[in-house]
Amino acid sequence: MRAEKSTSWHIGVLGGSGLAAGIGLEEAQEIEVASPFGAPSAPVVTGRLGGVRFTFLARHGKGHAIAPGEVNYRANIDVLKRCGATDVLALSAIGSLCEAMAPGDMVLVDQFIDRTTARTGSFFGSGLVAHVSLADPTCERLRTLLGKAAGQTGARVHPSGTYVCIEGPQFSTRAESRMYQGWGGEVIGMTGMPEARLAREAELPYAMLGMVTDYDCWRVEEAGVEVSHVLAVMQANAEVARAALRELAARLPRKRTPAPADTALDHALITAPEARD
Ligand code: ADE
Repeated sequence: MRAEKSTSWHIGVLGGSGLAAGIGLEEAQEIEVASPFGAPSAPVVTGRLGGVRFTFLARHGKGHAIAPGEVNYRANIDVLKRCGATDVLALSAIGSLCEAMAPGDMVLVDQFIDRTTARTGSFFGSGLVAHVSLADPTCERLRTLLGKAAGQTGARVHPSGTYVCIEGPQFSTRAESRMYQGWGGEVIGMTGMPEARLAREAELPYAMLGMVTDYDCWRVEEAGVEVSHVLAVMQANAEVARAALRELAARLPRKRTPAPADTALDHALITAPEARD
């Protein structure tokens, strides 16, 4: 039997490139949390924004030493769950696959196309089989609250966006970039999957605030993506991301009510009880 979730919000934040310095938490405490799934990317930093508890985990580790394909996504999600996070918010650098989403804009990603090839993408298997629904992989409530909060920062915010997750670490070829556009991709990144699917299996509502750093390489007249440019845009936008989180903290309803993802496993476990380890 799962324990009822608290009616107090506790937001787990997975921060990407440009946010290694953290999210400006008050009363911050760094804690090493162990996971049966292996080592998470870094110790977590837990603290408060306004009255709300936030726990931050740097996805690429201290000093950005962990490549997207090397991140232990299972351990990261598990550690946030163990810390008591009720919801997970991902902050990520993204490239844009469409004219309308320009560098400097924020996108509230709502859908994913998973092109990763070499990542452990489930907590299940090995004797316990579950098939969670991923039709709507992000939490509408958290996404809407986050959108309103991000809008207060003065940044241009797009309320939805389909994210193509590539394996990396290389950026795409121009042919791939144009193919992803044809598939309906609007933004592109390297970390949203399997993060979002694991959050669902862990019954943690998940939302992603993507920060557009580049136009990928589908515009023939432009040079390809350069990481120095991506980092410069992220660093310039890190304060906007922190401001969005402070706004979010101020806007969360006083009491947290259940979200659909809180019970994602209710009808997902398929292994017969007598066959479970
Ligand atoms: N992260 C930021 N920009 C990106 C791009 N163009 N492709 C993949 N990941 C990215």
